[in-house]
Amino acid sequence: MSQMAASALKSIYKEDAILRINNLQVFFYTDIGISRALNGVTFDVPTGKVLGVVGESGCGKSVTALACMRLLARSAKILKGDITLFRRSKKENGNGNGAIVDEVKLTDLDPMGDEIRKIRGEELAMIFQEPMTSLNPSYTVGDQIAEAIILHQEVDAAEAKQRTIKILDQVGMANAAGIFARYPHELSGGMRQRAMIAMGLSCNPSVLFADEPTTALDVTTEAQILDLMRDLQAQLGMSIVFITHNLGVVAQMCDYVAVMYLGRIVEQTSVETLFYSPKHPYTSALLNSIPHAGSRERKRLQPIRGVVPDPYSSIKGCPFHPRCNSYMPGKCDQAVPAITQIEEGHNVRCFLYSDEVEE
Ligand SMILES: Nc1ncnc2c1ncn2[C@@H]1O[C@H](COP(=O)(O)OP(=O)(O)OP(=O)(O)O)[C@@H](O)[C@H]1O
Ligand SMILES: [Mg+2]
Repeated sequence: MSQMAASALKSIYKEDAILRINNLQVFFYTDIGISRALNGVTFDVPTGKVLGVVGESGCGKSVTALACMRLLARSAKILKGDITLFRRSKKENGNGNGAIVDEVKLTDLDPMGDEIRKIRGEELAMIFQEPMTSLNPSYTVGDQIAEAIILHQEVDAAEAKQRTIKILDQVGMANAAGIFARYPHELSGGMRQRAMIAMGLSCNPSVLFADEPTTALDVTTEAQILDLMRDLQAQLGMSIVFITHNLGVVAQMCDYVAVMYLGRIVEQTSVETLFYSPKHPYTSALLNSIPHAGSRERKRLQPIRGVVPDPYSSIKGCPFHPRCNSYMPGKCDQAVPAITQIEEGHNVRCFLYSDEVEE
């Protein structure tokens, strides 16, 4: 999509944006070829709300978050597009949701430089899909969280320790003071994931990327942690980009949803509209592939036919057309549809609703 078209689209939110991802294209250059991970991702993160990002494995959810954090692997290249963080003044209750005071183009920053390091931790934080990749094995869990608090919040060691123990307790770690002194390898997978969540929340960032933060947890703990994140989010006025493949979690956690397929957003709207009035055939297929709690119908679940195509190859036309139940030959296999607003607060990228073609 051209930048013109992207900016011409009316926002789907009631809130202003805190982060703007515009036409982002990211490829990985590897020994076996070029992996086209993101092919023009455009969306805003609404201030003080939870935006869910959903889609099947490999569609580019983690890469999008890592690109915002400027933590992409060296083999990745940002070919096109930009990411802008809008800094807002803090309101009296500490929420960073006031007027815009400044903006910074994250894509212009040196990924190894001081500025992005300061932004990571103070303004942007991420709970990683793989806890072991971000917990340092040679420091105790408590020291790692406390250090981040000292670095970004100007408090002394004793105060940082108190805050760390409190947040470990809040994420449901029994014996938080004892956990403080443990090393990551001494914790279970679920406990490590909770330590990651504690770390992500500890600095009260403006935007928290939560990449499948509860997948390693049992359902009871997952529900508790989701409740906790929702409470803290509302209390702190934080924006969360909640990445998950679980639509049940989306319903519980999110205000808005962006559906991704093969490195593009294909539908974006409020969580209610997505569940009650999905428009993109991919979204409908995702919804049909999950069990409905309370449903009396004993309907068989319908997995989406086919698999997500290999990102090393490119498909002519709409990337979803080989799997789509509404495929229109001669149309969907010829060009990529542009994302268009089909109603207030509802954007869709599909030729069923508009003939507009991506430039
Ligand atoms: N370091 C890398 N080198 C090469 N390709 C990569 C790399 N990291 C990601 N990719 C590719 O980019 C695409 C998007 O990956 P990404 O990790 O964002 O998927 P995802 O939506 O987060 O999936 P999942 O639900 O499995 O976590 C995939 O095709 C993946 O193979
Ligand atoms: Mg991922």
